[in-house]
Amino acid sequence: MKRTIAITTTAFALLGALSGTALAADKLNYYCSAQPDWCDLMAKGFEEATGIQVNMTRKSSGETMAQIKAESSNPKGDIWWGGTGDPHLQAAEEGLTEPYVSPMRGELHDWALSQAASGNDATIGIYSGALGYGYNEEVLQANNLPEPACWKDLLKPEYKGHVQMANPNSSGTAYTTLATIVQLFGEDEGFEFMKALHKNINQYTKSGSAPIKAAARGESTIGIVFMHDAVAQAAAGFPIKVVAPCEGTGYEIGGMSIIKGARNPDSAQKFYDWALTADVQSRSLEVDAFQVMSNKAAKSSPLAPDLDSLTLIDYDFEKYGSSDERKRLLKKWDDEVSVLPQ
Ligand code: G6P
Repeated sequence: MKRTIAITTTAFALLGALSGTALAADKLNYYCSAQPDWCDLMAKGFEEATGIQVNMTRKSSGETMAQIKAESSNPKGDIWWGGTGDPHLQAAEEGLTEPYVSPMRGELHDWALSQAASGNDATIGIYSGALGYGYNEEVLQANNLPEPACWKDLLKPEYKGHVQMANPNSSGTAYTTLATIVQLFGEDEGFEFMKALHKNINQYTKSGSAPIKAAARGESTIGIVFMHDAVAQAAAGFPIKVVAPCEGTGYEIGGMSIIKGARNPDSAQKFYDWALTADVQSRSLEVDAFQVMSNKAAKSSPLAPDLDSLTLIDYDFEKYGSSDERKRLLKKWDDEVSVLPQ
């Protein structure tokens, strides 16, 4: 009996040693910064397509960037999928992510590739979406508030306590908001705008899309979010009106990056190529993710905001995704805006 156990144990040890690489390649530690149901769909879809076991961590863009940095001496993640491009670019610049040239590149829009060029191939664009805001029409009416149409409308005193946005340190959406306002109005006027807006904010949330979910439930009135996140709430039947601000607006190029020192680099590359296919990107519609996908052949919904019909600023991703600029703007917002009384 003892002998059988010993032989079996040796056999397993041998098998493990021989197939060590194959076993390790059967896992993927997946960091996701898109909306939770889309993160889940991608995790399950990849497991089904490849048999590779996925361990997922879902956090906002800025938080994920901070986690990858904190773990950089002993990386735990393999791939970072989703979330705004600025922190992906910062991670690329800081050497936290690994260059990779996918064979899928020929199928992608130019804007997805230009993100890769800015990040020296250590990141790539997976979707795009414009910033704006949404409001709950019923709550607005119940409070006798006028319909806002511009960024500057949000500064009116009657909206005090009615506006919600995320914290730009944790959320890529809110960092895009800060960088957009600075690019639209210039840095001095932009920070005056953020200070005036602060007086009307009822809460800075951790996640970027939380403010429009709160508005949908009637717990808040106006949420500054990506327009596609507001469209998703309207599509779910909530009384949310989507606004493309009259002054023009910024946009995101959502990112994907392979983490430097990944324990499962083969799985990470497989996921990367798979996630850039038209079929996989088209599945975004199953979870009401209304971004524009980076694969030119991916399906889009008629509900998706048409970026060509919007007045978009020429968002400077290289500048606002650079490590120094992102850190500087966030510190300035922490020091000069978040500390002010409301
Ligand atoms: C939502 C949007 C995405 C965006 C992400 C950023 O999921 O649909 O387009 O990239 O928010 O999340 P964060 O919490 O970092 O603002």
